[in-house]
Amino acid sequence: MEILVALGEIYEADRLIPVSSAQIAGVSYTSLGDDGIEWLESLEGAHVTIPAVLNPAGMDLENWRRMEVDPEYARKQIRIIEAYKRLGVRPLCSCTPYLLGMVPMLGAHVAWSESSAVCYANSVLGARTNREGGPSALASAIIGKTPNYGYHLDENRKAGLIIEVEVELKTISDYSALGYWAGKLAGSNVPYFKGLKGVDSVRLKALGAGLGAGGSVALYHVKGVTPEHKTALVERVERHQFGEVELREVYTNYFKPIPDRVDLAAIGCPHASLDEVKEVAELVKGRRIKDDSRLWVFTSIAVKRMAERCGYLDIIRAAGGEVYADGCMALAPLKDMGIEKVAVNSSKAAFYTRLLAKVDAYFGDLRQCIESVIER
Ligand code: F3S
Repeated sequence: MEILVALGEIYEADRLIPVSSAQIAGVSYTSLGDDGIEWLESLEGAHVTIPAVLNPAGMDLENWRRMEVDPEYARKQIRIIEAYKRLGVRPLCSCTPYLLGMVPMLGAHVAWSESSAVCYANSVLGARTNREGGPSALASAIIGKTPNYGYHLDENRKAGLIIEVEVELKTISDYSALGYWAGKLAGSNVPYFKGLKGVDSVRLKALGAGLGAGGSVALYHVKGVTPEHKTALVERVERHQFGEVELREVYTNYFKPIPDRVDLAAIGCPHASLDEVKEVAELVKGRRIKDDSRLWVFTSIAVKRMAERCGYLDIIRAAGGEVYADGCMALAPLKDMGIEKVAVNSSKAAFYTRLLAKVDAYFGDLRQCIESVIER
């Protein structure tokens, strides 16, 4: 309660309002460290009062040995999950809680942490959340409330700039590139996109992740698509154009293009949907990953189980790849596993894998990622 009241005072909230779910960051041992474990364990006795799930951990909680994670790291990671479980938090680690069945309704107030999940909740579902830190999301999960400020208020959900998309976006990574570019421009403003055609939930997931990584965008609108687009436009906002030149610029100037050979192609930032896993399976079917390279798809435990049932997992494994639940390429101890060069199809993954996992990250589309690890 002290955390929530302090936040409310800083942001001049008029009151605390009820929230219906929480998604809590601060889960991987990489980001939490020993002090974080101690703090979490000191909360013993408290219990969440609303449905609450976790952000990705640093490893697959069941298959960390297959990932070749150091047992000492794994021991600490499991200690973190156990501490959350004692607080009543569901040990489901994903940045796509909406693919785990946590789908808030239009206008519902929630307390979610991970930036792409926040973007999805606010923009695609029309729910309302600020970009919560791990401790404030956990506090909301326990108290069942959040301070009423920021994106919980109508006046902060209006568009601050218009982005006119003048190029055809062909791949999911193109949406990710647009998001990153627009995020840099928008900062913490609310962008309104015009000219996007053929969008679906996977593309919007990629767009939001890019926006949250390039800037600190928590909400966007897409003309004719997202639920609040009709009420979002205000007069006299600046307009920007995103064309072929800007799209290429993200791939070549902001990030490095994918070379012929990498140690790891990592797909699933944000966590892969079932259709994305299927696409990977189709691309590797009957082919073989090079002996000195790896192909990992990161997703939630729910999607992994569905992929298993659909046979996609068998196809990816037969090619020498793997689908991991719970983890994230940017939060995994890649360097300790001898991984130096990583190909990704997500601008967010390229940004954070370089920043947090401290490896060389290369950005391209899914096909390029796969080809960089396929045996010829
Ligand atoms: Fe999710 Fe990790 Fe990407 S938390 S959005 S897979 S950087």
